[in-house]
Amino acid sequence: MARDQDNTLRWATLVVLATVGTALTVTINPGFVIRISQKGLDYVCQQEIPVLQKRLENIKLPNISGSFKMKFLGNGYFSFYRMNVLNFQLPSHQIRLQPNVGLQLSISNAHVIISGKWDAKKNFFKASGDFVLRVEGISISADLKLDSNPASGRVTIACSTCSNSISKVRLHISNSKGVLGWLVRLFRKKVDSLLLKTLNKKICKILTNSVDTDLQRDIQTLPVTSKIDKVAEIDYSLVTAPITTADSLDLPLKGEFFSQAGRSPPPFDPPVMTIPPDHDRMVYLGVSDYFFNTAGLVYYQAGVLKWNLTKNMLPKRSTFHLTTDFLGQFLPQVSQEFPSMDMQLVLSTSSPPYLITQPTGLTFSPNLQAHAFAVLPNSSLASLFMLGMGMNAHMEVGANADRLTAELMMDKLHLQLIHSNVGPFPVELLQDAMNYLLPTVVLPKVNKRLQKGFPLPMPNRVQLSNLVLRSYQDFLLLGADVHLP
Ligand SMILES: *[C@@H]1O[C@H](CO)[C@@H](O)[C@H](O)[C@H]1NC(C)=O
Ligand SMILES: *[C@@H]1O[C@H](CO)[C@@H](O)[C@H](O)[C@H]1NC(C)=O
Ligand SMILES: *[C@@H]1O[C@H](CO)[C@@H](O)[C@H](O)[C@H]1NC(C)=O
Repeated sequence: MARDQDNTLRWATLVVLATVGTALTVTINPGFVIRISQKGLDYVCQQEIPVLQKRLENIKLPNISGSFKMKFLGNGYFSFYRMNVLNFQLPSHQIRLQPNVGLQLSISNAHVIISGKWDAKKNFFKASGDFVLRVEGISISADLKLDSNPASGRVTIACSTCSNSISKVRLHISNSKGVLGWLVRLFRKKVDSLLLKTLNKKICKILTNSVDTDLQRDIQTLPVTSKIDKVAEIDYSLVTAPITTADSLDLPLKGEFFSQAGRSPPPFDPPVMTIPPDHDRMVYLGVSDYFFNTAGLVYYQAGVLKWNLTKNMLPKRSTFHLTTDFLGQFLPQVSQEFPSMDMQLVLSTSSPPYLITQPTGLTFSPNLQAHAFAVLPNSSLASLFMLGMGMNAHMEVGANADRLTAELMMDKLHLQLIHSNVGPFPVELLQDAMNYLLPTVVLPKVNKRLQKGFPLPMPNRVQLSNLVLRSYQDFLLLGADVHLP
């Protein structure tokens, strides 16, 4: 009996472990993270506040009217109308991080000047004039909730709560038709509170509206896919809702290249990116190995990682020539069997290139193949031999205003003879030739493409500056300030 209980317990533990295990595998790591620091939020705030200010200056205040008591004479009536906001100042404002919740926008010491007309009457007493209302010490606090729209993969932002308060109201009533100070005194308290109530109600309405439309619209210009060329696109959709910590706001993106010809999941997963806390740049972009390796996979599968070298592609002053006579100096069989002919060398990657990011840098060991042909007098090709080439290379990554760029550099090349139609020969004979051909003919082509770069996920018109780049285990971190040109 006791035994059974033990077993039940063990089963229960197993079930829990299995569930945890499943939960862990279901969690999707991002392949690319946009991290926004407090400095970045300060910049966003600085950009968005003028938009909000414009909206607040366009507040339409309704007419207000009411009645007031006059001793022995019964009720009098007043109305305030044609109210206009002259100036709405928001001198002090901040967007703060609220860990696990979202963002909080707070505005303090805001003030507004409103002008308008008034009149008051009771039987034969009539008075009218202009007024100026100065409202000071306006505080506004709003919670901004960030989420992801799973259907579109886009970030959404909404104002979830908003409150505001006003500490001081100064109503200056001027009377153009006779001074009826005593009459004004009878209703001014009432007017103060009515105006306050009206304004209070409007402020949060306008702020909520501004977040839901203006800010939302700006955020939605973050691309969810970026088309790169005829072959590939990058998926920059959110994998989970944005994450706020005490330090930063993270947008976890898929960061995956995919083929325009059709999409299939890559046979590897994004690594965990442990991004160190850093504050001196506005944004940090975490670019994982996954990002680069899905690129390698897509371009490999599209068959574009292939280079066909012919005679006239070599530099004019090249000491190496793509002819059978030249090769005959090392491999006499070639010039004997195919005298005085041109050659073609087709280089390709024999597996998807795979990049490894480490604190020491980005290394890369693509497996290449070189297939040599002699061009026969009737233009058909005769296969000579095929070499396998293991390359050790490293990549230097850079960035410009809105693109990630890179440069590939060869460190070492190991040759191996895979197949020969001209008899066996020691591959070392071709080492110098290949050491020359790859960096002078092939790498410049690859680097031309890498220098053109790949689009980074940036909202409309936003550009990066003050870039810093560091490599960590499994990812690269690009820190930058942003600006609008
Ligand atoms: C506000 O009052 C003015 C003056 O009495 C009037 O002309 C105007 O139509 C009123 N506006 C509204 C929306 O009632
Ligand atoms: C290499 O390019 C030449 C010229 O463009 C072409 O005639 C030849 O067929 C190509 N060779 C291979 C193996 O693709
Ligand atoms: C080209 O010449 C070679 C050798 O002379 C011959 O084997 C091949 O069939 C020819 N190809 C064509 C397309 O004529």
